[in-house]
Amino acid sequence: MAAQPSGVVIVAIDFGTTYSGIAFARPGDLVPKALHTWPSRSSHVSAKYSKVPTALSISPDNDTQWGYGVSSENEPFVLFKLLLVRQDLLPQTVQTSPLFRDIQKKSALVGMTGRALASAYLGKLWQHFLSDARFNEQERNEMQLAITIPAGWPESVQADMTAALREAGILASTPGGCNVRFFWEPQAAAHAMILDLNQECGFEADDMAIVCDCGGATVDCITYKIESVSPLQTREVVGSAGRLYGVAFIRAGFILLLKEKMAATRPPGALTVAITDAELEAFAEIQWDQKIFHPFSGDELYFPVDIPAHWDGESRTLRFYKADIVNLMASAVRDVCDLVMAQHQAVSEMTKHAQSPKYVLLCGGFSGNPYLRDALQKRIPGPTKVQWYEDHDYGRLHLACEITLSTDVQGIELEVLAISHAGTGVDGIEFAVRRNGALLGRESARVGYYAPLAVEEPTT
Ligand SMILES: Nc1ncnc2c1ncn2[C@@H]1O[C@H](COP(=O)(O)OP(=O)(O)OP(=O)(O)O)[C@@H](O)[C@H]1O
Ligand SMILES: [Mg+2]
Repeated sequence: MAAQPSGVVIVAIDFGTTYSGIAFARPGDLVPKALHTWPSRSSHVSAKYSKVPTALSISPDNDTQWGYGVSSENEPFVLFKLLLVRQDLLPQTVQTSPLFRDIQKKSALVGMTGRALASAYLGKLWQHFLSDARFNEQERNEMQLAITIPAGWPESVQADMTAALREAGILASTPGGCNVRFFWEPQAAAHAMILDLNQECGFEADDMAIVCDCGGATVDCITYKIESVSPLQTREVVGSAGRLYGVAFIRAGFILLLKEKMAATRPPGALTVAITDAELEAFAEIQWDQKIFHPFSGDELYFPVDIPAHWDGESRTLRFYKADIVNLMASAVRDVCDLVMAQHQAVSEMTKHAQSPKYVLLCGGFSGNPYLRDALQKRIPGPTKVQWYEDHDYGRLHLACEITLSTDVQGIELEVLAISHAGTGVDGIEFAVRRNGALLGRESARVGYYAPLAVEEPTT
């Protein structure tokens, strides 16, 4: 098997605003391995997902929990990656959102900056990674780190991230100091998607593709030209651009609307009880995120939402109409479409209107939303087609590409041979690895599909 050429272990961290992941390639590995096992609250290890929540909780006796292990009793810290950016650079929707203000307030209360929270979280992720990957001494001697940051974030974020990695003890994991390389998130996503969707999209030399990673808080775009199909070679033709957008705050908008609808339909004389924020969040996660927002296609007239009887003395069903949902999503959808359109426009100008990108390749959590995909397809002119990962484990591929950037895997093609399903999700993939058409080997990966975000319950 052709292999990762140097004697260095390459480690890639995808530090996401809402979910993070980590993958690595040992010398000799052809395909990077992404971690799929994460500790959870009961010390039980959930082996389902290739990404883990970017969340921390700190108990009064200073016990820090992270990822699936956070405790809702200790008010978890979430979205703290946003604190790495100067507040005035954040969009108004984010700056003024109660959720963001709450994050600022909570971090100030415990005297922790965004960098300190990032460092605490990355330190936990790293410790778990080292104990899971079990490197030998020689491997520990030479490690190189690849880390991605959203397109367009200021230079200062790289310095802050490096400091966070140092303070977490990550850079000192290797005797000579771990070398760090930064990549833009859309560069990484583009490498993964073009490589992975090459067969499905039937790319030909000179085709162009816009890649758009719409994640939990940032949307990033870039445009590549396919220079040659076999071996696959690409060239960046429109530079990366990104912005923070309010997708993570859509749930907060739902909670506000829920309160308004409840107040407007409350039975006369009904007792009003104080519903805690934690209770509302848990309710919204299931009733909104999972049942309405994630599958919303725009074809539905309304979604019924059952209100628990103990909230105001009477169980009843509220309706969330299509227009309610479209309104809640409007600014996030517009941000994604505007950014993609700017890349499309740049291609038009560059080619003097002679060529359009063949595809918009969508990835990131929001790309799972059918309404967004449809809105983008309607907005994008001409023959450009919107394409997304269907049955793939986006996380694994996203991480894999970050390693791709640092290793010599030019000409590598992955062909999916079999996909095993578990429940509504994908459980495992078996694939053939080829370089320039020659079979190098077969690999299998245990994966988790995006939508179900529940933690596996302990088997007692
Ligand atoms: N079908 C869907 N529709 C809309 N949102 C979805 C869907 N599936 C998952 N999500 C959301 O996607 C987010 C996770 O996406 P992703 O892992 O790409 O974000 P991230 O990497 O943490 O964010 P970023 O790249 O912006 O830092 C979660 O907020 C999740 O609720
Ligand atoms: Mg991301």
